[in-house]
Amino acid sequence: MKSRQTPPKIQPQVLDFKPYAAGLSIAEIQARYQLNRVIKLSSNENPLGLSPLVQRSIEKNAALGFRYPRPGSPDLSRALADFYAIPEDRFLVCNGSDEAIDLLMRVLVRPGKDQVLACDPCFSMYHLQAKLCGVAVRRVPVNPDFSLPWERLLAEVDARTGLVFITNPDNPSGFTASRDEILKFAEQLPASCFLVLDEAYIEFADNLDQISPLQNLLKLDLPNLIILRTFSKMYGLAGLRVGYGIMPPEIREYLLRVKSPFSVNILAEQAAIAALSDQDFQGATRETVQNGRTYLSRELTRLGCRVFPSQANFLMFQPPGSAPALFEGLLEQGLILRPLGSYGLDNFLRVSIGKMSENQALIKAMEQL
Ligand SMILES: Cc1ncc(COP(=O)(O)O)c(C=O)c1O
Repeated sequence: MKSRQTPPKIQPQVLDFKPYAAGLSIAEIQARYQLNRVIKLSSNENPLGLSPLVQRSIEKNAALGFRYPRPGSPDLSRALADFYAIPEDRFLVCNGSDEAIDLLMRVLVRPGKDQVLACDPCFSMYHLQAKLCGVAVRRVPVNPDFSLPWERLLAEVDARTGLVFITNPDNPSGFTASRDEILKFAEQLPASCFLVLDEAYIEFADNLDQISPLQNLLKLDLPNLIILRTFSKMYGLAGLRVGYGIMPPEIREYLLRVKSPFSVNILAEQAAIAALSDQDFQGATRETVQNGRTYLSRELTRLGCRVFPSQANFLMFQPPGSAPALFEGLLEQGLILRPLGSYGLDNFLRVSIGKMSENQALIKAMEQL
């Protein structure tokens, strides 16, 4: 038998590539600690689960599973266009916003020539995909209070910069920039550079109008703005994988040339349409997250943690003692949080806002620990 060796023609950037480190799963923790009940607060999923309208849509459409979906997800693009009153040809529906990030990296920057700019820390997909595509990444540390370093970001932009990623609200910190700050920054970028504004968590914000440029996108003259949104968070479809980008039509055309034509399946497309229409579920989710955020922020502070302000469905905090020890202690009690060592934040944890009973269980467990 031949010994296992590195294949001779493997792309060099893959050799030291580490796969995405996702949060631990409920099944893993149940098995490891022999627990019946595990509360997962690590992946910023929807605390209320799946909308009943989505559930029904999946059941209704299950029999269509043998068909290929229509490339470009036209039904969902139309539903999004109606929802936002923005022309359909600006929406690129993808297999999660992860796929949109991958497409941007493969199409809008040239390996070995151009660069991508992002903050440090930032959502890991930006630098993972850039690395996989052979595109250099520059990282600019956020300010000590985790606000965004606008001036230092601008100072790093040069003729080679093709994409600048800004996450608003930010992951992992939850910091949220204002719409005016974002627009001011976008206006100062050269025409050759796109601002990719990742708004995965924007629907949880208290004052959406003051933080997202999407509402009056058509009035803004910003041909280099690309907004990313997802159905994984507010709409509860993380497992079905649907996200979308809103971008100038000519950019969408280029991305569509390389996008895998069937990457969004029929059930996911129809489920997303149902999710978009379920305003009761969106309202209940928003209320659960906003109340839970206030509660957890107050209680974690009471327990001596440094809690960072957040407009997302999670909070980042620094416990008074060791974060890794607290993380392990909570795991043993069936509570999964997100350690932030992979973001270079060893002494910080991130907690997704759960149902009130789950938030209370966390506080109780922390009081005991
Ligand atoms: C900032 C940010 N962008 C994008 C995503 C990816 O979302 P999706 O599930 O749509 O791929 C995530 C997921 O956690 C995220 O935190």
